[in-house]
Amino acid sequence: MDQSETPYLDALVRYASTDPGRFNIPGHKGGAGADPGLRAAIGDVALRLDIPSGIEGIDVGADPLEIPFQQAQRLAAEAWGARRSWFLLNGASGGNHAICMALAHLGTDAVVQRNVHSSVIDGLVLSGLRPLFVAPEIDDDLGVAHCVMPAMLDRALAERPDAVAAFIVSPTYFGAVADVAGLAAVAHAHDVPLVVDESWGAHLAFSDLLPSNALECGADVVLSSVHKLGGSMTQSAILHVGADAAHPRGRVDEALVDRSVTLVESTSPNSLLGASLDAARRHNATLGGALLAETIGSLRELRREIREIPGLDVLGEEITKSDSVHAWDPLRVSIDVRGTGVTGNRIARFLRERHDIWFELYSANVVVAVFGIGENVAETGGRLLAGLRAASAELHDDPDGKREPFAPLPPWGPTEMTPRQAFLGPQETVAFDAAEGRIAAESLAAYPPGVPNVLPGERLSRATLDFIADSIAHGGQVRGASDRTLETVRVVIE
Ligand SMILES: Cc1ncc(COP(=O)(O)O)c(C=O)c1O
Repeated sequence: MDQSETPYLDALVRYASTDPGRFNIPGHKGGAGADPGLRAAIGDVALRLDIPSGIEGIDVGADPLEIPFQQAQRLAAEAWGARRSWFLLNGASGGNHAICMALAHLGTDAVVQRNVHSSVIDGLVLSGLRPLFVAPEIDDDLGVAHCVMPAMLDRALAERPDAVAAFIVSPTYFGAVADVAGLAAVAHAHDVPLVVDESWGAHLAFSDLLPSNALECGADVVLSSVHKLGGSMTQSAILHVGADAAHPRGRVDEALVDRSVTLVESTSPNSLLGASLDAARRHNATLGGALLAETIGSLRELRREIREIPGLDVLGEEITKSDSVHAWDPLRVSIDVRGTGVTGNRIARFLRERHDIWFELYSANVVVAVFGIGENVAETGGRLLAGLRAASAELHDDPDGKREPFAPLPPWGPTEMTPRQAFLGPQETVAFDAAEGRIAAESLAAYPPGVPNVLPGERLSRATLDFIADSIAHGGQVRGASDRTLETVRVVIE
C-alpha cells in the first residue's frame, strides 16, 4: 500500500468541495447554521469537513476494498504492523471498553496489571470480567509505578488458570517500557492472548531509535492512543489485532473485536477525528523516522541543560536498571524535583501561574513534560528551561527548607468482589473520613495521573484515604468519584 496517501482525508475534502446539498445532519449544514463565534474560532473549512457517516464513496460503498474509510484503516494496520486496525473516535478509553467486552466473550476471568488506566476499570465494570490484579514494580524512592515483569505475570496466570487474557500497560506515563516480548511469551505459554494498552507508544513503530512497539513484540491486541504522542486530534485512537500466523483470525478473534468496537462507538463518528488519524498515520509512516530522530537528538541536549539547574534531575536511560523496565521512551522528559525542596505539584502550579507552562503530569517527586513528533524542541525546550530555572531560583520557602509532607503511595486494598458487582450492587453514601474498612462502590483515581488508587470492589484503607485527600490538598483532582468534592464516597452495603 502507498503510505503517502490519505484516502479518507482526501474523500472528505473532495466531498466538501462539491458543495453538496446538505439535507442531513449535522444541523449546522457545513457551517451556515453555526454560531459565528465558532465559525470564527475554528473556520468554515473545518465545519465543511464535518460530514456525517453513511456517505457513499466515503465510508460506505459496494466494494469494501474501495471504501476510503476502510482503506485508511488498512493503511494504519500496515503502518503499525497489525493484522487489522480500527479507528476509535471515543478515545483510547473507548478502546479499553471494547477490549474488555471482547475478552468477556472468551470467559469470566482475566489477569490485569493493577495500575492500568481507569478506562480499563470502567471496561471491567461494563464487561463483568473478574480481574486478578498483578502488581507492577514500584519505585518507592520516586513514588512511581513501573511495569509488570514476565515472572510476575507467569505467577498470576498460574494462580488463575481460568484467566482468558493478560492485560498490561506499556509504556507508562514516565516512559518505562515493559519486556513485552517476554510477557507475550509467558501469556502464550499459558495459551492466553496478551493485551497491551500502548496508549503512550503510538510513535514507537516509526523509529529505530525507540523501543520496539508491542505488535512487533508479539502482543495480540494493542491499543494506541494516537492523539497522545502520534499527532492526531484529541479523542482519536486506534485498536489493533496482531498478525500471528498461528492464529489467522487473531488470538482474540477479529470478528469479536469488531463487534465490541461497534458496541461502544457512536453511530455518529466525527469525520474530523477520523481524518486526523488518517493524516497522522501518513505523517508518521512517511516522515516519522526523520522527525523523531531530530526530536530525540534535541531532547538529549534539553535533558543535559535541565540537569544543570540546581535541584533538578531528569529520569533517563537509567530507569531501565529497574527490574521491570526493559526499555525507555525518550519523548517523555520526567523531571525529578526532589532536590529543590518543594513538590512537583508546587512547581507545576508555579510554572502554570507565572509562565503559562502546562505539564502532562505532576506528582510529589516528578513532573513530566511530553514532546511530540516534529516538535521544535529548541524553541519549546527553551521556554521550559526558562520556567524551570525561575522555579529553582524562587521556590524554596517551605518551612525548614523541607518539602511539604506528602502521603506515601499506599498499598492497594484487597479485592472483595468484582468491579461490576460493587458498581451495580446495593450501596450507600458515607462521609469520606468514615469510609475506612468499607468496600468502595466507585473507583477513585487521583489525577494526575489517573491510575486508580481505589477500584470498585476494593476495601478502603486509612492509608489510601489519606493519600487521596492529600493529593487533592496538593492541587490534584479525583476521577471516578460521584462527589467531586470528595466529602462523601459511595460504598457497598455488606
Ligand atoms: C494508559 C492509558 N490508557 C488509556 C487512556 C485513555 O485515553 P483517552 O484519553 O484517549 O480516552 C489513557 C489516558 O490518559 C492512558 O494513559
